[in-house]
Amino acid sequence: PASLGNVRRIVLTGFMGAGKSTIGRELAARLGWKFLDLDHHLEQRTQATIPELFERHGEPHFRRLESAALVSTLALTDTVIALGGGTPEIHTNRLLIEQAPGTLTIFLDAPFPVLFDRCVLQALNPGATDRPVLKDPVLAESRFRLRQPLYRRLARLTQPTEDQTPAETVTAILERL
Ligand code: S3P
Repeated sequence: PASLGNVRRIVLTGFMGAGKSTIGRELAARLGWKFLDLDHHLEQRTQATIPELFERHGEPHFRRLESAALVSTLALTDTVIALGGGTPEIHTNRLLIEQAPGTLTIFLDAPFPVLFDRCVLQALNPGATDRPVLKDPVLAESRFRLRQPLYRRLARLTQPTEDQTPAETVTAILERL
């Protein structure tokens, strides 16, 4: 895309089930860039799963590790980075993303019921990662509401993903760049 100009990395944000990992991998492939999934990176770095990190010392501990991982990933170039759904809830994380030069942030948007259904389907896949924040659907929806404005403000582009395959969403993103 012609307008990529001084964009050196693309950050994908949005709630669980938005398609950050699937769309991110495909977008990176079509740009000839690398792809990094923040949750996966964190699991590799700590040699623990996301639920283990939550269980061991609680969510605040997970968030500290997540912030540390975010700092190092924001130094990468020619890379599409998929955040965790909760990464933008932390104020310093939002500042880090906003202040990393050459970062284009895209919000992958969909209504809560669509996201919830996608997560339930994804959980049926063998090897699917558990999502501790999704355990209580009522709490999950309240966090969805809390985060919506944060995602929107953080991103330069908001891309709807409802009624679209991940490949169609990638095409739509590339057309908007
Ligand atoms: C979380 C989302 C997950 C993961 C962790 C917490 C959240 O990432 O970081 O389970 O608070 O919404 P995905 O959005 O990639 O599932």
